[in-house]
Amino acid sequence: MKLTDQERAMLDGREGPAVQKAMQMVVALGEIYEAEHLVSVSSVQVAGVSYKNLGDAGLQFLEEWLAQGAMTRVPAYMNPAGMDLDRWEEMGITSEFAENQLRIVNTLVAMGVESTCTCTPYLVGHVPQVGEHIAWSESSAVSYANSVLGARTNREGGPGALSSAIVGRTAAYGLHLSENRRPTHVIDVSCPLRHSADYAALGYVVGVAVKDGVPFFRTRVAGTRPTQESLMALGAAMAASGAVALYHVEGITPEASTYADQLGNLPRIAMRDLSEGYQALNVEESVVDFVSVGCPHSTLTDLQRVAELLDGKRVKATTWITTSRHLYDRANELGYMQRIERAGALVIADTCLVVAPVETLGFRVMATNSAKAAFYASGHSRLQRHFGTLEECMEAAVTGIWAAHSGECRG
Ligand code: F3S
Repeated sequence: MKLTDQERAMLDGREGPAVQKAMQMVVALGEIYEAEHLVSVSSVQVAGVSYKNLGDAGLQFLEEWLAQGAMTRVPAYMNPAGMDLDRWEEMGITSEFAENQLRIVNTLVAMGVESTCTCTPYLVGHVPQVGEHIAWSESSAVSYANSVLGARTNREGGPGALSSAIVGRTAAYGLHLSENRRPTHVIDVSCPLRHSADYAALGYVVGVAVKDGVPFFRTRVAGTRPTQESLMALGAAMAASGAVALYHVEGITPEASTYADQLGNLPRIAMRDLSEGYQALNVEESVVDFVSVGCPHSTLTDLQRVAELLDGKRVKATTWITTSRHLYDRANELGYMQRIERAGALVIADTCLVVAPVETLGFRVMATNSAKAAFYASGHSRLQRHFGTLEECMEAAVTGIWAAHSGECRG
């Protein structure tokens, strides 16, 4: 691999052992993927923040790296942690878990990583430009950055991303290269896409079908225009059920027009009906004891809508609305938080049900509006699941019963 003089100096240890270790990791990844050179990155999103995933060995690894002098040289921010950093007791988190979680966050902060603790850094002021190289790690954030923002990133692992933050580089392979951003499949959608849950159900089915491909969506239903929340839900679902890190939507995403006339020989998938997605993510059981929305982390619009839906009501099921700390504070200023919590639901920042130790909290059946959360519910959180719209989830929160009908959508 071709390295610049500065990159070679880092690799040779002339900037100290912490930088050398980071550069060794970045170069090793480049060699595995046969990259010819490195590229400078303008920002890094660091995953592997939750103590649930990192464990004691990971915590020790981070603390040793910090002791060697590890320090970021480009803006870097954290993916969700395993708990709300302030309200962890209300979540039922043990003090032992909390203590270790706070050590991880403090170690990363000491390295210069901002404690955003969110999978939606693009909602809290970190918005890369079209064509910018970045090294992000959470799969829905990677999908959004590549697809909706037109930035360039592979899905980085935890140590790889932190290494990139320390040396300011990543290896030039995969989605950093234009040739790998071309569509591999055309998805012709002829059923109505009514809300974010429909986009999530669509994403679930397409992710299973195209795996790590690059789908190009065309819709035949006039007037269909996805909201930001819909694009977030679509990308998160495809990244979970498949390994889609980039998609294009005709007339919407920034690179779609580049490929619109090059679709001739690509395999086509006709989507006339979303019931396959809804059915795969719903169980028969109708009693719900846990409702979780905010995967990816809730937008301010989501939080406002939840407040409206819960006004004057009282939840029966434990209800978590997960979001970033930044939007939690905004929602607090705007009074959404108070309205939601008056109904007995909990707005939780810094974490989500997949990275928090939910399996230890005794829930059995969850309702969610996220195909990604539903997909991971049984494996990561040992829960049965229901998947539907935000409105259906809030109804289930209040009644404790899943009575949704969103799956009945055909073109
Ligand atoms: Fe974000 Fe957690 Fe979902 S990291 S995309 S809220 S699984």
